[in-house]
Amino acid sequence: MALSTGELICVDFNRYLKELEKQGRCMFLPFEIQELTLRNIGRFNEKNIDFDTFNIVFGNIGSGRTTLLKSIGCISDSQKLLKSGQRDGEIGLTMTDGRRLHLDICEAGEVKCIVLDDVGERLDQERYGEFLRYLRALDVQVILLRGNMNDELDGLINRTFPDCTFIQLN
Ligand SMILES: Nc1ncnc2c1ncn2[C@@H]1O[C@H](COP(=O)(O)OP(=O)(O)OP(=O)(O)O)[C@@H](O)[C@H]1O
Ligand SMILES: [Mg+2]
Repeated sequence: MALSTGELICVDFNRYLKELEKQGRCMFLPFEIQELTLRNIGRFNEKNIDFDTFNIVFGNIGSGRTTLLKSIGCISDSQKLLKSGQRDGEIGLTMTDGRRLHLDICEAGEVKCIVLDDVGERLDQERYGEFLRYLRALDVQVILLRGNMNDELDGLINRTFPDCTFIQLN
């Protein structure tokens, strides 16, 4: 049976996201993020970011978008080590000089958040609009990291996501 246009778009974008995941530009997280806190990470000294449901984090070249993706990624990767059937766990490491490293691990589940780094910037306006609508229909938290905005894009995003939160780096 032939797919309808809407279904075809979804199949395409689903594949597109999986491809981006392989390239390290898309992450599927089993939790929603309320706040990200960084201290002396990448170019940031102290950085706190509060997230909403649909978020566009934008900034110039070198503003730290990929640093955010990697920071979230290294925490979320460690969560995959939780023993099955357990609700939480911990990894602690003490160095011979006494310094300690510590990770808290919590139960994961289905995908609740998608983080995308510099994605869709080569799509034309119409396709980008379809992509945003596709993301919205997934009904999960979205954190879209992207280069600087322009008026056209601003308008498109406002029409698709009137409740979108814009977060500017730099
Ligand atoms: N460990 C570090 N210490 C200090 N500065 C760093 C470190 N890692 C990265 N930076 C600086 O932070 C800047 C931002 O890095 P990042 O790649 O996160 O930005 P970006 O917004 O993704 O940039 P791009 O537009 O290239 O994708 C880099 O230009 C680099 O100079
Ligand atoms: Mg980057």
